[in-house]
This record gives sequence, C-alpha cells and structure tokens, in this order.
Amino acid sequence: MIHFGIIGAGDIARKFADAVRQLDNAEVIAVASKSLDRAQEWAAREHIPSYYGNYAELLANPRIDAVYIATTTNAHYDNILQCLQAGKHVLCEKSLVRSAHEALTVCSLAKQKNLFLMEAMWTRFLPKTTTAKQWIQEGRIGKVKLMQATIGWKADPVYNKRLFDPALGGGSLYDLGIYPLEVLPYLVDEKILDMDAFVARHSTGVDDLVSMNLQLESCIANLQCSFTTKMPEDAYIYGEDGYIRLPKMHFGSRAELYNSADECIDSFDSGEENGFVYEVAEVVHCIENGLLESPICPHQMTIDAARITSEVLHLR
Ligand SMILES: NC(=O)c1ccc[n+]([C@@H]2O[C@H](COP(=O)([O-])OP(=O)(O)OC[C@H]3O[C@@H](n4cnc5c(N)ncnc54)[C@H](OP(=O)(O)O)[C@@H]3O)[C@@H](O)[C@H]2O)c1
Repeated sequence: MIHFGIIGAGDIARKFADAVRQLDNAEVIAVASKSLDRAQEWAAREHIPSYYGNYAELLANPRIDAVYIATTTNAHYDNILQCLQAGKHVLCEKSLVRSAHEALTVCSLAKQKNLFLMEAMWTRFLPKTTTAKQWIQEGRIGKVKLMQATIGWKADPVYNKRLFDPALGGGSLYDLGIYPLEVLPYLVDEKILDMDAFVARHSTGVDDLVSMNLQLESCIANLQCSFTTKMPEDAYIYGEDGYIRLPKMHFGSRAELYNSADECIDSFDSGEENGFVYEVAEVVHCIENGLLESPICPHQMTIDAARITSEVLHLR
C-alpha cells in the first residue's frame, strides 16, 4: 500500500484524489496547503484524514511514502526539492519545471536519494494513446510523415487567474502546449532534433498563443496552443498509408484509424472514466518495484521538454 500526501489544495488535486480512491493499493492520507482553512475544507470535502497549513508538517509525517504536487507551475521546482530532501517519492503536475537546468537538478537529486520522480503527463498512460502507438508500431498507417495538434480554449481571466499570471508560471505552453510536446514524440518513439516557434503575448506578458514546428528523427510535428483562442483539441498522425485521429488529444478516450481513402477502418474508445487512474497505477507500480523513473514518462522526457519550453519562451 502506497500512502500519498498532496501539496496544493486546489482543483486538479481533487481529480487525483478520486483516481487514488479507485485503486486498492494506494491511499491519500493527508493534504497540505499554504492556508490551513483551505486544507481543512479540502480534506473534509475529500474525506482525507489529515490536513496541514504548511508543506513541512506534511513532509514530516513518516507514514507518507509519496507526494503529489498540485501547486502552480512556478512553485514546482522548490516543492520537488523540499519533498525529495524529506525522503518522499514525487509525482508532480505538468509542467514539471521551467528550465533544463531545473529539470536536471531535480532528476539527479531524485536518483541520488534513491527516490521516484515523475512529471504527471497522464495522457501518455491513456489506453487510447497506447492503442494509437500500437497502430503506428504495427505499420497500420505506414511510415509516419507528419503529426499535427491544436489545443486551445478561451479561459476566464477571473476563474483561471493562474494562466494569465507570469508570477504563477502561467501561459499556454506550460499549461497546454506541453501535452502535444510530450505526447507526439512518444507516439513515434523519436527524439526532437530541431525546433522553431512563434509566440504571441498577452498584455500580462505570458504567452497566450504558441505555434511550433518540431523536426523529429523521421517526421515533422506541428502544434499550436492557446488559452485565449478556441481551437479544436484534436491530434492527427499522418502516415503514407493512412492517418490516426485523436479527438480531444490530451484527455479524450477515443482513437480512430483512417485509410488513404479517408475511410475509418478501426476505432477504440475506453469510455467515460477518470483517466488519472492509469498514471497513478503506474506510479504505484514503479514505487512498489523500486523503479526511480517510469519507462513511459522517463526523466529525459521532462529534461527535453523543459529545454524546449524555456528556449521558446525566453528567446522569442
Ligand atoms: N493534469 C491535468 O489534467 C491538469 C489540469 C489542470 C491543471 N494541471 C496542473 O496542476 C497544477 C495546479 O493547477 P490547478 O488548476 O489545480 O490550480 P489551482 O486550483 O488554481 O491552484 C492549485 C494550488 O496552487 C496554489 N496557488 C494557486 N494560486 C495561487 C496564488 N495566487 N498564489 C500562491 N499559490 C497559489 C495553491 O496551493 P496551496 O493550497 O498550497 O496554497 C492552490 O491550492 C498546475 O501545474 C497545472 O498545470 C494539470
């Protein structure tokens, strides 16, 4: 049984707690927030037995094996260091950190301390992603030439404050673009060799629209993300003999396979569910088996993505 503590009593932590409840070898036993009231209210709503008004007290609880970090992106780096120094395994929300240097630092500290660390790129674990990857490996669409993904929605500046605030690590690339950036190369098992990007800025200074081209080993990927412009949230993988469509790429349950005559010849749908379950099951499996990183979301994924996001956002 793996006992989780949660840092950051916000929105996404609720989905995590719900996923853990669906597993019989994991349990959330505590939550911590910078506000004791928020921690207490959150714990009561989620039926979590312990709550704390600061992170240090949660980390001092010897029953906690692993921590799920669900704070805003700006805080992740310090939170991860604090958790690892306290001897806890870590699952941290995306984007894990904001530079390759930070990524290398946390990944090497985790290894040094013999602790598991993973960025919560849950899309990689969804059954439809596994299915699409398998179709590609089986040659069902032939040699892959191009992958495309758009992911855009219109956020409410009042409710979705963190997205608009540079101090909280806001912006479309850390929040949305990170999905295709970390999932498309995984589908074809290829490294990113080169990249070009254009960034549009919101009046607050964060990137509110990013367009990127990635040169992979044998194909090209093109992606756009925005939190001020609605776009389809679909991905397409085009091969010489057909293509795969992933509706709602980062969270959807469905994958569709088309031939070159544009006919849908196969499909997969895992149905309505909390897709975090697969990611959490992998974390529990890795920790129980002494793995320090997941082969599905390895440290190198995070290091590569952090290098690219910081290049895009700081050089443009
Ligand atoms: N995997 C997914 O599908 C998914 C979806 C949405 C978000 N996320 C990721 O999850 C993380 C949290 O997102 P969220 O939507 O859950 O955020 P949220 O509810 O706005 O905030 C989460 C926590 O961050 C801290 N926080 C928020 N605003 C703050 C502020 N102004 N000043 C200081 N601390 C603040 C608070 O921590 P305390 O309670 O400790 O004070 C809060 O409880 C982000 O990294 C995001 O990218 C992932």
